[in-house]
Amino acid sequence: MSGLGKDIGKSTGGHPMVRAEGVHKSFGPAHILKGIDLEVNPREVFCLIGPSGSGKSTFLRCINHLEKISAGRLYVDGELVGYRQKGDRLYELKEREVAAQRRDIGMVFQRFNLFPHMTALENVMEAPVQVKGESKAAARERAQRLLDRVGLGDRTGHYPAQLSGGQQQRVAIARALAMEPKLMLFDEPTSALDPELVGEVLDVMRDLAEDGMTMIVVTHEMGFAREVGDSLVFMDDGVVVEAGHPREVLTNPQHERTKSFLSKVL
Ligand SMILES: Nc1ncnc2c1ncn2[C@@H]1O[C@H](COP(=O)(O)OP(=O)(O)O)[C@@H](O)[C@H]1O
Ligand SMILES: [Mg+2]
Repeated sequence: MSGLGKDIGKSTGGHPMVRAEGVHKSFGPAHILKGIDLEVNPREVFCLIGPSGSGKSTFLRCINHLEKISAGRLYVDGELVGYRQKGDRLYELKEREVAAQRRDIGMVFQRFNLFPHMTALENVMEAPVQVKGESKAAARERAQRLLDRVGLGDRTGHYPAQLSGGQQQRVAIARALAMEPKLMLFDEPTSALDPELVGEVLDVMRDLAEDGMTMIVVTHEMGFAREVGDSLVFMDDGVVVEAGHPREVLTNPQHERTKSFLSKVL
């Protein structure tokens, strides 16, 4: 399984793929993200770790504007997410414009969220046909190629219920790739899997990384973070506590909170 897509990792004009500047997010009175600053460079595998409830999923959801940030600035590929800036003022983008931004960002969830009434092939074909108006023939050809590349070329006619969790998650990755995203967000992609199925999903992600895809990966798989990650951020209670090279952070954490967290998960 190699060459997961030769035209991935495309972009950019010299700016980071993702840039967060003082990003805050509240849900009513609950202040969840408390000023996140970070940058993800093109082709980087950026791992995000932290305790449950620290705001990791919320941050990913802000990146593709499934959540609206309360303050700060968030850029993807040099473009403000969800807003247009004129002078000092921000204007919200129309739903159609938000959808256009979101189209460039693939997201893979803990629970695979495949369409249960569609085969693997149909799941992967769906968005290019419905959202991009691609011809069924072209979408089918790409879907077949992507399923081959995640090792499921012989399962294209299977329905999600006929596939293992690991296979379903690989279909979900192929489905995200079908939109030819410039950025992939993974939210604990292996957390719902039986332990023996984790490896096959991480292998696909490793392949994607080697092909140059820019990826933000929320994970508890410290082995993956160490081997594949270029950067690691430890987040707790809505702030970035510590950031650095994964090997550095994992073997030589500087902050008590990082040490305490790692002692529980390593
Ligand atoms: N839509 C929402 N409304 C209210 N609170 C929310 C919502 N989404 C998330 N939260 C709260 O935000 C906090 C962070 O959640 P989350 O981003 O899912 O953390 P993590 O992914 O790190 O476990 C949690 O306390 C959660 O209850
Ligand atoms: Mg989460």
